[in-house]
Amino acid sequence: MKPSMKPETFLLASALLCTLLGLGYPLSCEVCVGDGPSCTGKLQTCAPDEDSCVVVVTETNRKASLAVTSYKGCAKSSECDSGLFGITVNPENYMGSRRRCCQKDGCNQDPLPAFVRNHTENGLRCPSCIAAFTETCTASEEALCVGEETRCVTLSGLVQPAGVKFAVRGCGMETACHTKPGTLVPSGARLFTIKKTSCL
Ligand SMILES: *[C@@H]1O[C@H](CO)[C@@H](O)[C@H](O)[C@H]1NC(C)=O
Repeated sequence: MKPSMKPETFLLASALLCTLLGLGYPLSCEVCVGDGPSCTGKLQTCAPDEDSCVVVVTETNRKASLAVTSYKGCAKSSECDSGLFGITVNPENYMGSRRRCCQKDGCNQDPLPAFVRNHTENGLRCPSCIAAFTETCTASEEALCVGEETRCVTLSGLVQPAGVKFAVRGCGMETACHTKPGTLVPSGARLFTIKKTSCL
C-alpha cells in the first residue's frame, strides 16, 4: 500500500523546510522611532530581503543640543552590526549608539541599556570636520578623543528625510572603522545612512 501524504502534512513539511532554509516566511519586527531611551510600535512584516530586526539607541550632541533617539525596525543582516558605535567631531558635535540585530519575529521589542558616553579624554587627537552636500570634508580643527575612541575615522553617507549627502571626520571607536555600508544611525528627526567608512 502506498502511503499518501495528507495536505496538512505537506503544508507542515513545506513550512518546516522553509524555516530550515530561512526562506519564504517573512520576518516581523517592531517598528518605531522616538525621542528617549525606548520607543514602542506595532509589529510589521519586513520586506523579503530584510532578515533581521534591529533596535538602536543613539545619544547625539548636535550643535550643543543633546538628544537621545530610539529606533526599531527591519534591517538586512548585511547592514546590521550589534554593538557600540561612537564618533566625535568636537565637544558640541558627537554621536554614540548601541545597536542590537537579531533574527526572530519580534526580537527587537526589549529596550537596550542606554548608551553612556565616556567623557574622559584618551590622548588621541584627530583631524575633524562635518559637512553636508558632500562626500568629503577638509579637516578644519582637531578633535580630542574620549573613552574608547581610539581611531581617526572618515565617514560619509546620506541623511534622511532630505536624502542629502554628508561627510564627517573625527575620533571614532574601532567599530566605526568596520561599519557595514547601509548601517542606519537615527538621530532626532534625522536618519543617517553610513555608506563609506575608513580609518587612518
Ligand atoms: C573611560 O575612558 C578612559 C580613557 O580611555 C579609560 O581610561 C576609562 O577606563 C574609561 N572608563 C570607563 C568607565 O569605561
